[in-house]
Amino acid sequence: MPTDLTLEHLCKSYPQTTGGLFPVLEDVCLHVEKGAFVTVLGGNGYGKSTLLRIISGMEQPTQGRILLNGQAVRQRLGRVGLVSQEVDLLPWRTTLDNVAFGLELRGMPQAKREHLASAYLRAFGLEKFSACYPRELSGGMRQKVAIARTLVTAPDIILMDEPFSALDYQTRTSLQCFLLQLWAKLRETIVFVTHDVEEAVFLSDYIVLLSPIPAHVVEIIPVPLARPRVRSAAATAALCRQVLEKYGSSSCVDNDEMRRAL
Ligand SMILES: Nc1ncnc2c1ncn2[C@@H]1O[C@H](COP(=O)(O)OP(=O)(O)OP(=O)(O)O)[C@@H](O)[C@H]1O
Ligand SMILES: [Mg+2]
Repeated sequence: MPTDLTLEHLCKSYPQTTGGLFPVLEDVCLHVEKGAFVTVLGGNGYGKSTLLRIISGMEQPTQGRILLNGQAVRQRLGRVGLVSQEVDLLPWRTTLDNVAFGLELRGMPQAKREHLASAYLRAFGLEKFSACYPRELSGGMRQKVAIARTLVTAPDIILMDEPFSALDYQTRTSLQCFLLQLWAKLRETIVFVTHDVEEAVFLSDYIVLLSPIPAHVVEIIPVPLARPRVRSAAATAALCRQVLEKYGSSSCVDNDEMRRAL
């Protein structure tokens, strides 16, 4: 069921080994409408994964609240699915058993979970590989299995942490199209993290630009391009340039300072 998501004044600090606290998120506020495809754009170490882990319920914020359909929900693990930054398939389980893993944890009987996982593998074009182990799959296929494993549990909100960043251009762009087709069918709410401006513009309804840590939302940039989008279109390129300018000016890298230092 498509669900809206509200982040209210989220803060997160980690204790430092030297004592004191290390603030990573500071007053992150955001509202994501039901069925929207949102990207969160920020550089390395901006707190993107921390933010997704908190939304997923794997970690708790130091302050602030997360609302699903206007209700504060502390136990979100079943309702919010996370595709992690590192593909963490279980190497001793086959493709089918990896996809069925979350269903097994929920106590679904074997025949039922295998039936459901097989349906996802067919939809993802991976049915021929259902008996293969992760080491026998390509990087793109492993990423698809990781996405199937999250979607099969029917989460209300899907979080994706740079799922395509380690893939080559061809595989990345084809998986982006695949993801958009899935989203068009499911109409679930997706929060997709990336540091890639072109990816953010190609995929999303709007882009949430993060500041360096302690991270907050610098700007919400709408992407008013009609779908299906054309990467090579002039309007797409113009928007990428605009976003890149804003992204560059929100970055913590001081190029003049760096030139002087080198
Ligand atoms: N469990 C933790 N304990 C202490 N510090 C942490 C912890 N998790 C993350 N951090 C710190 O929080 C900051 C943000 O990390 P995070 O992984 O969220 O960034 P990111 O934007 O996802 O980076 P990347 O683009 O490299 O994946 C980093 O400085 C990191 O060292
Ligand atoms: Mg990360």
